[in-house]
Amino acid sequence: QNDAALRGERAAAPSYPMPRVSPVDPPPQLAALRAGRAASRVTLWDGSEVWLVTSHAGVRAVLGDRRFTAVTSAPGFPMLTRTSQLVRAAPHTASFIRMDDPDHSRLRSMLTRDFLARRAEDMRPVLRELLDDMLGGLVAAGEKPVDLVAGLTIPVPSRVIALLFGVGEDRRDFIEGRSAILIDRGYTPDQVAAARDELDGFLRELVESRVADPGTDLVSRLVTDQVRPGRLSVEELVPMCRLLLVAGHGTTTSQASLSLLSLATDPGLADALTKDESLLPKAVEELLRFHSIVQNGLARAAIEDVQLDDVTIKAGEGVVLSLSAGNRDERVFPAPDTLDPHRDARRHLAFGHGIHQCLGQWLAKVEIEEMLAAVLRRLPGVRLAVPFEELDFRHEVSSYGLGALPVTW
Ligand code: HEM
Repeated sequence: QNDAALRGERAAAPSYPMPRVSPVDPPPQLAALRAGRAASRVTLWDGSEVWLVTSHAGVRAVLGDRRFTAVTSAPGFPMLTRTSQLVRAAPHTASFIRMDDPDHSRLRSMLTRDFLARRAEDMRPVLRELLDDMLGGLVAAGEKPVDLVAGLTIPVPSRVIALLFGVGEDRRDFIEGRSAILIDRGYTPDQVAAARDELDGFLRELVESRVADPGTDLVSRLVTDQVRPGRLSVEELVPMCRLLLVAGHGTTTSQASLSLLSLATDPGLADALTKDESLLPKAVEELLRFHSIVQNGLARAAIEDVQLDDVTIKAGEGVVLSLSAGNRDERVFPAPDTLDPHRDARRHLAFGHGIHQCLGQWLAKVEIEEMLAAVLRRLPGVRLAVPFEELDFRHEVSSYGLGALPVTW
């Protein structure tokens, strides 16, 4: 092929993910693609071509359609990162986020009651106390600036998970460190596999200790209600616990960090929330829409031919659903690039859609609401302590976020 033909092909299927121009907005090419056909061809890092869906309606249609599978070993499944192959290479390590029904719903349903909205509400008083301690400590130390990532948005989700699992403080660093490696594209597949194996080893020991001596935590409940009666094996419980750890950690940290960044840089948001704290739940939905931290979207493969408006997706073809593009779709959210805490953003796609829609969404929202409320109360007039351009945005991590958030008040 001559150069011109190659260039033509590249232009037809641009590389994905595309680079951002503004650190708080999705790449502008996504908006251009959204204005076009229902799905466009893009090229992934490994040279493979997949479909990219960028409209709100299109993302919902695919995620709500059983003719698309979440099983990584399915033909054509998009390998979004170098490490996506790990799950494919070791299917026994897959958790239910990578399964279809009925396997998926059999396992997910064992956890539903622990993650209901009212169970998340039960966590609120515990969180308030925890946050009072943490921010009280930061303020009392009298040192400014403080880094709200190290000081708040990493430890809060990590403590919440440790509480759920009944794991001691001494193991939190280990869990935080290993979970962070699993979602960072900066690590090699070997490093990620090693971190996953170490985490699984730790979880297996935890499960076995609960089998021997159950307590009142979530793992003990699963052992008593599901493992003992033979409905769930230890081999299935370990990846389930890993999923909760990994899915609940980095995501919440990233979303909370970017939400606090908005609070520190957008006086309109801080004013609106200071005047009326009851606006918080609405503002958190809008912050989820606006930041859409699952930045590279979700992967699926078609198991049958599917007509998506003007595009036919053939069986065995991969599809990537851009949650961030769908969340900036002007047909659903007028003036989509404006962060408006008064907007009703509940139709956002930040937690996905369909059978895999985030199980931890209520817990995540309560955590983020409480972190914002605590910062508003304890650090009045919170603002960035460094120029915006110096912030360390984490482009390499599957949940987009910040390495540090130095603030003063
Ligand atoms: C699934 C986002 C917090 C547990 C998902 C999915 C998204 C998502 C987009 C769908 C994945 C797919 O369809 O392939 C987020 C965001 C969070 C967050 C943005 C924070 C702001 C949490 C927390 C937990 C959690 C705190 C639990 C402790 C899960 C689980 C699944 C999931 C278990 C798999 C559900 C299934 O396959 O049925 N999350 N998540 N997430 N999330 Fe979250």
